[in-house]
Amino acid sequence: MVLIALTYKKLVDRDFKILGIIEREMTRYEYVPVEVIERRAKMPSTHVAMILRKLNMLKLVKRRLGEYVGYRLTYLGLDMLALRSLVERGILHALGDKLGVGKESDVYSGLTPGGERVIVKFHRVGRTSFQRVVRVRHYAATKPYTSWYELAKIAGQREYRALEELYRVRALVPRPLGYSRHVVVTEFIEGVELYLYENAVDPEKMLRDILDTLRKAYLEVGIVHGDLSEYNVLVAISDEEEKPYIIDWPQYVEREHPAAEQLLRRDVEYIAKFFRKKYGVSIDAEKALRFVRGELEEPF
Ligand SMILES: Nc1ncnc2c1ncn2[C@@H]1O[C@H](COP(=O)(O)OP(=O)(O)OP(=O)(O)O)[C@@H](O)[C@H]1O
Ligand SMILES: [Mg+2]
Repeated sequence: MVLIALTYKKLVDRDFKILGIIEREMTRYEYVPVEVIERRAKMPSTHVAMILRKLNMLKLVKRRLGEYVGYRLTYLGLDMLALRSLVERGILHALGDKLGVGKESDVYSGLTPGGERVIVKFHRVGRTSFQRVVRVRHYAATKPYTSWYELAKIAGQREYRALEELYRVRALVPRPLGYSRHVVVTEFIEGVELYLYENAVDPEKMLRDILDTLRKAYLEVGIVHGDLSEYNVLVAISDEEEKPYIIDWPQYVEREHPAAEQLLRRDVEYIAKFFRKKYGVSIDAEKALRFVRGELEEPF
């Protein structure tokens, strides 16, 4: 079993209670003073001390010693609170293998209470560097400083909401099942990443479907993916048809964003070039772009 799941199993109600208090108070303190935790917990201080020792040993909190003793959550601590909420709401039942470590996320498989296989994506914003966060995540640039956990939660919420709206207009994206904080649960797409997909049957149709998803995103939802590549497309075979699903949406920008047109052009030109080079599809990127913007009815 993976560390996150093993750790989760070691926790009881009062551990979650203390984690929850620290989470709430972190909006006011960088390290939450022990006195504050005790006051909010309404538990004897010896009990609180014991729980904090356990949480610290499991690396769910980080202790600060100095003029006062205080605690803050680690990513693992935040993971526990998110999992707890997903489990209690019946969205998730079990966590499976780790499927990948991205620049800014950890992706696991999982199971719902009904036995459906799902994807559990833990956003890890700021794991690389804050500079990169500001550069890549446009929503982070407006505030002078936002903490790692706030940024990670924003990424989770953004990805979930984008998927919800995209799924509603029948764009080819994984069905979103729920989220908590920085963790998003979606349908598991049984497929293979486009960059690994050899021997495509109908590449022109696949490209058309991808452009159609970009068009729905742009015209019906009002967003631009902004990081489209052969790594963020999963090809699934259903009814003997190749279906390209576009994944990884947290960095999307709204159509009104000053960078939207430039990012849309980048996405379209990039994917058009990929299909031209790999499959010899003859496509005019300008025409494809006009199709996505709704100025043409056909991309080819
Ligand atoms: N719905 C899904 N179904 C099946 N596999 C998925 C699904 N979502 C993600 N994956 C797998 O996990 C990998 C990483 O997912 P995703 O692209 O969403 O995040 P990421 O690339 O780690 O994020 P970042 O771009 O910040 O590095 C994918 O390449 C794919 O192999
Ligand atoms: Mg990706």
